[in-house]
Amino acid sequence: PETGCLSIVVLGASGDLAKKKTFPALFNLFRQGFLQPNEVHIFGYARTNISDAELRDRIRGHLVKGKAASSDLSEDLSNFLQLIKYVSGPYDSEDGFSRLDKEISGHEISRNSKEGTSRRLFYLALPPSVYPPVCKMIKQCCMNKSDLGGWTRVIVEKPFGKDLGSSEDLSAQLGVLFNEQQLYRIDHYLGKELVQNLLVLRFANRFFLPLWNRDNIDNIQIVFREDFGTEGRGGYFDEYGIIRDIIQNHLLQVLCLVAMEKPVSLTPEHIRDEKVKVLRSVLPIKMEEVVLGQYQGYKDDPTVPDNSNTPTFATVVLHIHNERWEGVPFIMKAGKALNSRKAEIRVQFKDVPGDIFKSKKQGRNEFVIRLQPLEAMYMKLTVKKPGLEMATIQSELDLSYGQRYQGFTIPEAYERLILDTIRGDQQHFVRRDELKVAWEIFTPLLHKIDEGGLEPIPYETGSRGPKEADELLAKSGYVQTHGY
Ligand code: BG6
Repeated sequence: PETGCLSIVVLGASGDLAKKKTFPALFNLFRQGFLQPNEVHIFGYARTNISDAELRDRIRGHLVKGKAASSDLSEDLSNFLQLIKYVSGPYDSEDGFSRLDKEISGHEISRNSKEGTSRRLFYLALPPSVYPPVCKMIKQCCMNKSDLGGWTRVIVEKPFGKDLGSSEDLSAQLGVLFNEQQLYRIDHYLGKELVQNLLVLRFANRFFLPLWNRDNIDNIQIVFREDFGTEGRGGYFDEYGIIRDIIQNHLLQVLCLVAMEKPVSLTPEHIRDEKVKVLRSVLPIKMEEVVLGQYQGYKDDPTVPDNSNTPTFATVVLHIHNERWEGVPFIMKAGKALNSRKAEIRVQFKDVPGDIFKSKKQGRNEFVIRLQPLEAMYMKLTVKKPGLEMATIQSELDLSYGQRYQGFTIPEAYERLILDTIRGDQQHFVRRDELKVAWEIFTPLLHKIDEGGLEPIPYETGSRGPKEADELLAKSGYVQTHGY
């Protein structure tokens, strides 16, 4: 049932992810009326021994960040914080989780929830190493008590392992405790507005249907750039590197939505079936189509070993072996400490055959979907330069969300994904088999890097990354276009 008592438990409540993402997302949902005070209670659980008031103090500042002060805001804030209770305990302790369960049950009773109709959502804002004990404890002590209705759902977040083997181990451990319908694997890129728009764009527009294939498209780039380094997360990052942190999950999910075939319907299983299918068609990565980089200064972080060869930048070209995409390189590029912060998809079309305008010097048609910042879609196209001359220039048909959709609010990815979990919609979550194929694609490359078989090229902080990456881009067919 979608009504009735709802208990949301944030495990790792005093950590960074909870403070910066989970609680603010819950607060936004609360403000929009999706979490009703007469139904919802929020529990924080972590090891730190603090009071309810201390937890509320710790998160308060994060909840109002970026919001204009108003009496509405402070009223909402105090009403929201009232809903939060804190329970402290270790992550593998029956005692701690039984106390948590008692709190949840107390809340359910106080809300006159009929037995079995309560909903329990557990958000693991924790490192994956503790997922198995935490999930075991949830299963043992905190499940929704009856199967008359209601549910128990668990949200987990990457990194799901470090390679195929470790990820499969983790999946197996969680799989004996919860079924797929109870597990929500978040990839927050799937909660971004323009990522969600991809299905609509591709399958609801006549424009794109006949063009979206190897006959017309020359190459596709999926790019993530950040203009800051690892910033205090060096210890975590050094164990994973940019491929595990960004490419194997966020960018690969975007690739699925760009490249997959039309699903039978919009049901989560139909969509995810198509994603798995396209991932299965990805060919093994060729080492000569990989460029790694590491920004200078990365190793100054005291938590990063002096001899680290962890890449903070990577360009990896993927090829999809099917009828639609044979011969079209998918250039996946991600880097930290670069010259700008941007995530975008660039679909570059082939040259016009038999060109009579010599427009090549202006460049090719390109369709760009900017995921962030300043969400936008624009098409680069060649037009006649206004004036007396029959000259051509390259211009844009531009749909910038900030201008076109004034008055609309674009929700935060986490906000949307938590709401989906409450509603039981798994469309924007990663299925177990999808995760497995994603690891299959990258594991040989990751092992090669871990064994020291592929060294990152140093690049200057604030640059475009190693020039070898631009060379690989050019070799893959990308032609730089020059706008008007
Ligand atoms: C996270 C990565 O998953 O995504 C971070 O671990 C990265 O390293 C972040 O900074 C980027 O997310 P966004 O939404 O800011 O693009």
